[in-house]
Amino acid sequence: HLSLPRPNTTDVITGDADNNVTDHIFEKMGYALHKRPDHPLGIIKAVIGDYFDEKFGKGEFATFDDMYPIVTAHANFDSVLVPPDHVSRSANDTYYVNKDTVLRCHTSAHQAEMLKDGARKFLVTGDVYRRDSIDATHFPVFHQMEGVRVFEPKEWEDAGVDAVDLASAELKETLEGLATHLFGDVETRWVDAYFPFTEPSYELEIFFKGEWLEVLGCGVMEMKILEDAGLGDKRAWAFGLGLERLAMVLFDVPDIRLFWSDDKRFTKQFKEGMFRAGGVGMQKFKPYSKYPPCLKDVSFWLPKENPESFTENNLCEVVRDVAGSLVEEVKLIDEFENKKKGLTSNCFRITYRSMERSLTDEEINALQDKVREDMVAKLGVELR
Ligand code: PHE
Repeated sequence: HLSLPRPNTTDVITGDADNNVTDHIFEKMGYALHKRPDHPLGIIKAVIGDYFDEKFGKGEFATFDDMYPIVTAHANFDSVLVPPDHVSRSANDTYYVNKDTVLRCHTSAHQAEMLKDGARKFLVTGDVYRRDSIDATHFPVFHQMEGVRVFEPKEWEDAGVDAVDLASAELKETLEGLATHLFGDVETRWVDAYFPFTEPSYELEIFFKGEWLEVLGCGVMEMKILEDAGLGDKRAWAFGLGLERLAMVLFDVPDIRLFWSDDKRFTKQFKEGMFRAGGVGMQKFKPYSKYPPCLKDVSFWLPKENPESFTENNLCEVVRDVAGSLVEEVKLIDEFENKKKGLTSNCFRITYRSMERSLTDEEINALQDKVREDMVAKLGVELR
């Protein structure tokens, strides 16, 4: 087994009333998968970096891989104009260390400070954290790359075009080029989108294996962000992409948990420099035999007084804290209301499976018993 560097979490404040970060999440901090040259995420990061070097000149885009993931709520939300009532601010969606401090939910959290520090063309890569449901493509920790490019007034004046048009055009051309760099000869399309920090905003989709797949969000940066950084005379574009999403598609990795695995059957299949656009002439991931899954259903009444306090994200957090990466999926399979009792019942199916070994019945039963116990204690549900 490779020994993974263990993160140091002792400097993190826990025990605050607003803290909803479980140990399972804290333990993930500091792995820096994106900094491992032979890891799929490190490989994709490097390939994207190479593209920016080729397109804009070597080193023109400064790269940052070490920005600390614990940031102020101000940096994560306010500095990029996320409205006060936006759902992403809720404790159901975001990990709070305390009421003013969060685990960044996107690398956009660094836009404002980077601009204030004088960066004008940069890529920021890092781990981001979101409370979410559990399945093969969702893990509460994943990796994003943010790209920002600032234009000087001279650039649009010399070109004799409108600043937003210039930024939009270069943004689209750059990202279409990136799509080709990654996916080879691929069909792309632009979809109008909304982000609080860009206007206009777009998503780029690629046609891959018979489906349109969203690969990134981007847009022309809101002027307010530039003004706050003392750059009110300039313009900028920005994009953000998820590295796992790209790596899963480009290397054929079937389950997002594999990126965290130190099983040699996984890690040995990836090498720095192996990537070929569109996977042409490149060995993709060869899955090794999957171990059998174990399914457990749990039925319960939502808390009578306050049924909205129960959310799928909260349940997933309880399951993750008990089972860690042994949980593959948590899925609502039945829901009904008992009008007479004034109660709602839910039934969730929990799929347990290890990526590395067979699990024993005893082990699973112990996990499931603990999950049931914690559901009552932490979520206030009544088991049926
Ligand atoms: N931060 C956005 C997200 O996480 C992506 C994005 C970045 C969109 C920059 C526009 C500009 O979804």
